[in-house]
Amino acid sequence: MFLNSPVSEMRNEKLKTQKLRRGFVFAFLLFSFTFAAGCRYDMQDQPRYKAYKQSDFFADKRASRDPVEGTVARGQLHENKAFYTGKIDNPNPNAQVQTATDASGNTVVASFPNDVDEFPVPVTKELIERGRDRFNIYCIVCHGPIGNGDGMIVRRGFPKPPTYHDDRLRNAPVGHFFDVITNGWGKMNSYGYQVQPADRWAIVAYIRALQASENPDDKSKMAANTATNSAPPKPTAKGGKP
Ligand code: HEC
Repeated sequence: MFLNSPVSEMRNEKLKTQKLRRGFVFAFLLFSFTFAAGCRYDMQDQPRYKAYKQSDFFADKRASRDPVEGTVARGQLHENKAFYTGKIDNPNPNAQVQTATDASGNTVVASFPNDVDEFPVPVTKELIERGRDRFNIYCIVCHGPIGNGDGMIVRRGFPKPPTYHDDRLRNAPVGHFFDVITNGWGKMNSYGYQVQPADRWAIVAYIRALQASENPDDKSKMAANTATNSAPPKPTAKGGKP
């Protein structure tokens, strides 16, 4: 047969030696690499525990240790209480809360003793514009473009929120609006996860601007709150740019 001819046998021999030689070269390289690697001792190779592994060293047998008491993650100090909670420094848990009754007979809260009354951030045109953007994303669907409570999904049957333009909410401190966004209010869900504190204040500033735009002659506390903004943006019916 052709395969067993002397020529093909010679070729087979040649192939075998080639394979053997390659094998040797590979083994040599592998050996020298292992040897070379053994000479280095890098930081990543030091003795260590894997997270959540058991340890016989600590009394509680946990290799993962708790952070030292009082540890604060970078950027999480939240020292400015008013900014992060909308509450005054020493809230009184027993403060009397007034309630009022609205037209539909619902009991509504009309005093907010523990909420801050002043913005903890400077109220600028940029802040209000940012607030308008966020309001139009998160709130407009229920509260409507000017805050009358006639948003699109309310027209489709969702419970109607109160208008922002009654005396109760015009006189409510800014901290109350911040609190409603952070924690929700009655039938309204919390928007704390979607809207970060700085943006909540931006929305509150925009709500104040909306209130001022609906009551241009208002001389109340609410108007004083907005005084830093000389020309509040007039919202259009679509809630777009003024
Ligand atoms: C899914 C609909 C919906 C969305 C979205 C919504 N709200 Fe409301 N909101 C309501 C309803 C309903 C109420 C009335 C709740 C109640 O009194 O039980 C309400 C009440 C309020 C009140 C009045 C609280 C009071 O003292 O009576 C404020 C202020 C308010 N919302 C602000 C906001 C802001 C700001 C946003 C956007 C971040 C927002 N809401 C998004 C439905 C909504």
